Amino acid sequence: MLPHWVPDGVDITTPNAARVYDYALGGFHNFDVDRRFLEDAERAWPGLVQLAHDNRAFLGRVVRWLAGAGIRQFLDIGSGIPTLGNVHQVAQFAVPDARVVYVDTDPVAVAHSRRILTGNRFATAIEGDLRRPQDILGHPEVTGLLDFSEPVAVLMVAVLHFIGDADDPAGILRQFADATVAGSCVAISHSVPAVDAVGQEYVRQLYGRTPTSLHVRTPAQIAGLLSGWQILEPGLVPISDWDPDPEDDDVPAQWSAVGGVARRT
Ligand SMILES: C[S@@+](CC[C@H](N)C(=O)[O-])C[C@H]1O[C@@H](n2cnc3c(N)ncnc32)[C@H](O)[C@@H]1O
Repeated sequence: MLPHWVPDGVDITTPNAARVYDYALGGFHNFDVDRRFLEDAERAWPGLVQLAHDNRAFLGRVVRWLAGAGIRQFLDIGSGIPTLGNVHQVAQFAVPDARVVYVDTDPVAVAHSRRILTGNRFATAIEGDLRRPQDILGHPEVTGLLDFSEPVAVLMVAVLHFIGDADDPAGILRQFADATVAGSCVAISHSVPAVDAVGQEYVRQLYGRTPTSLHVRTPAQIAGLLSGWQILEPGLVPISDWDPDPEDDDVPAQWSAVGGVARRT
C-alpha cells in the first residue's frame, strides 16, 4: 500500500528528479527506485549528495539576498519537495508578508507544498511546467498572489539543466523578462562540465532514463540563455562561492554547478 502522501497516478517505478533530490537532502518523500538511483549515482560520481546540500544552501542565501535587496515576491519554478529552508520560510522570515508561489511538474512536490502551506495566505503551490511559461504566468493562483507591476524574483534553481535546447531555454527566460518589470531578478543554478567527466556522464545517462534528462552546459552557454537579464556580480560562479556565509568553512564545492543572480534589463 502506498503512503498517504502519494497523489493518485504517481509513477513509483521510474526514478524522479524531485524525489531523488529529496532523498539526497535527507527527506522521506521518495521510493526504492529513487534511493537506488541516488546510491548508484553517488557511487559513480562521489559528491552528488554534497552537491544537493550545497545547492539547497545556495538557494537559501540567494533568497535572503533578494529579500535584502527589496524583493517581496518570489516565483519559484522547479521548487521541489519541501524540506528544510524552504523559500517561503526564508523569505517570510525576512519579510513576513513576502509572496511566494511554488511551481513544479512533480505531483508529490506540489501536493506536499500545498499541505505545508495550509493557512499561509501569502504562499501557494501549483503544478506547472517551465517549458510553458505562459501557462505559469497566466495561472489564476499566480496572478492572484503576485503583482507583476512590482518586482518579482523568478527562481530557477537546479531546474534549467532539465530543459533541453529543443525547448528553447533562452526563449523561456526572455518570456519571464517580458512579463516582469525593471528591478525583477532571476536566480539560477545549473550543472556545468565536471572535472570527473566520466562520473558525470554516468549520472547524465542515468537521468536519460527518467522523464527529466540532464543537460550540462558551460558557464558561457548558461550566460547565453539569459537574454533580457543582466548578470550581477560576482557572475555565474560555483554555487558555494556565491555570497558564502563567512562562518561556513566547508570544503569548497566541486566545480560542477554554477549559480548567480541576474537583473531584468
Ligand atoms: C533538483 S530539484 C531542485 C529543487 C529546488 N529548486 C532546489 O534547488 O532546492 C529540481 C526540480 O525541478 C523540477 N522540474 C524538472 N523539470 C521541470 C519543468 N520542466 N518544470 C517545472 N519543474 C521541473 C523537478 O520535479 C524537481 O522538483
